[in-house]
Amino acid sequence: MILVMEMALPAEYFNALAWIWIAIGVLVFPLTLLFTAPFGRHFSSRFGPTIGNRLGWIIMESPAIWWFTIVFVSGVSSQNYLPWILWAMWMVHYLNRGLIFPMRTRTTGKRIPWLIVGFALGFQLVNGYLNGTAIGEFGTQYTVDCLMHSNFWIGLAVFLLGWLINLHSDEILLKLRKPDETGYLIPKGGFYAWVSCPNFLGEMILWSGWAILCWNLAALSFAIWTIANLVPRALAHHRWYRQHFVDYPANRKAVFPGLL
Ligand SMILES: NC(=O)c1ccc[n+]([C@@H]2O[C@H](COP(=O)([O-])OP(=O)(O)OC[C@H]3O[C@@H](n4cnc5c(N)ncnc54)[C@H](OP(=O)(O)O)[C@@H]3O)[C@@H](O)[C@H]2O)c1
Repeated sequence: MILVMEMALPAEYFNALAWIWIAIGVLVFPLTLLFTAPFGRHFSSRFGPTIGNRLGWIIMESPAIWWFTIVFVSGVSSQNYLPWILWAMWMVHYLNRGLIFPMRTRTTGKRIPWLIVGFALGFQLVNGYLNGTAIGEFGTQYTVDCLMHSNFWIGLAVFLLGWLINLHSDEILLKLRKPDETGYLIPKGGFYAWVSCPNFLGEMILWSGWAILCWNLAALSFAIWTIANLVPRALAHHRWYRQHFVDYPANRKAVFPGLL
């Protein structure tokens, strides 16, 4: 027998929490424009104790696997099969992001501040709770009837498009370095023809698709947080490329082809 624990707040409190989380996500946007999180190429030792990059990444992303699943299975809607399709979509992405991707990064000797790991971990705990509850507990609308609604199919198509762009673009980056290298090269191919950070573009499309597909406040909050995080970070990466490579392609935008 599988023991499940009641974890969900009453619906009205849950919705209030989701709205508060959306409001915080909107406020995060100007902050991330002003302050670039100090990891990867923007690493700085001024932000206190650090941990190895790979382990830090696994620690901060892993709640999206275990915590999301605990919350999901403890909800009553997880007894239906359609929410499990949503769970599987989430899991396919996060098994890569939380375990496979960090194991594949060529990051020997690089560090990440505990401060960043702590913030990201906190984010994943709240985000995993909101999204796991929204489909595992309050996901009674996810039945075969969903399949008749255009938002399900449009959201699924957008999600898959974003996922493919993200995966393909990350793949190009992961193969740029030789095994023990940690420097930077100009990425080429795929969506890099148009933008400096197509992996971030793909991530934003992916979670926008999730929001259209799931059509709930938790999924909307995740799309907003992703955009609030990744548009400013793409602008910072783009500036960095321009400062460090004199031959950087002049027509390449930061994240939205032809626009920004
Ligand atoms: N949903 C969200 O809010 C969210 C937030 C953050 C990240 N993510 C996703 O997580 C993934 C990784 O994020 P990230 O910030 O680490 O992305 P990133 O800065 O593009 O780096 C990805 C990996 O490629 C390496 N790399 C990047 N540019 C390179 C270059 N020009 N030459 C050689 N190697 C290069 C990086 O090494 P270094 O680490 O040494 O720079 C890192 O290992 C992305 O797909 C992103 O969309 C999602």
